[in-house]
Amino acid sequence: MKFFLDTAMIEEIKQAKAWGFLDGITTNPSLAAKTGRPFEDLAKEILKIVAPAPVSLEVVATDVDGMIREGLNLAQWGINVVVKIPMTEAGMAATQTLSQKHGIRINVTLVFSANQAILAAKAGASYVSPFIGRLDDVGQDGMKLIAEIVDIYKNYSFSTQVLVASVRHPMHVTEAARLGAHVATMPFGVLRQLFKHPLTDKGLAAFLEDWKKVPAPAKQPQTSKV
Ligand code: G3P
Repeated sequence: MKFFLDTAMIEEIKQAKAWGFLDGITTNPSLAAKTGRPFEDLAKEILKIVAPAPVSLEVVATDVDGMIREGLNLAQWGINVVVKIPMTEAGMAATQTLSQKHGIRINVTLVFSANQAILAAKAGASYVSPFIGRLDDVGQDGMKLIAEIVDIYKNYSFSTQVLVASVRHPMHVTEAARLGAHVATMPFGVLRQLFKHPLTDKGLAAFLEDWKKVPAPAKQPQTSKV
């Protein structure tokens, strides 16, 4: 399973890369806005840091021509650009043109149903992003949607990767992995939580305490050379 970071924060990206657990980045307009930086400048820095790992950059146009124009422009920013396109009628038309005519990798975002995921796969998306946390927020089972999409994609051997998004806690990651989702994109805080277990901390503290009781090695007698 691949781990993507859902962030536009440079320091978080550098830390995840240093840990060796960074398979890609997803951004969105809200995450970009949080940085307070001009988008092109920020995106190009991220692309360079993580290359050749994929970085999803989202279009903000809402019409087909605008999305295609923006997607073509974004794709020139780096070899690792994945253009993120929302699940709308215009978005699916743009996805088909950008992926099939121009060979650009597309991540279809804001997916909340299995039928939307089928459309994304048929349009030629490389990734589909079901937002599980936002479904949980409105009282629906986000993980059930992942199970449905994984099943359906297997039925038809779709090559589109299931990119589990809107991940809020480590159990989302575990469940996504159990279901065989290809990717989980998570906030930095969730990635950091994956390392943690209270019994690990407690066990390590006890080992280090006990280590202090292990006698130091006996000193070797000095042999005097004549
Ligand atoms: O990048 C899209 C998605 O992961 C957003 O998550 O927490 O805003 O629902 P969230």
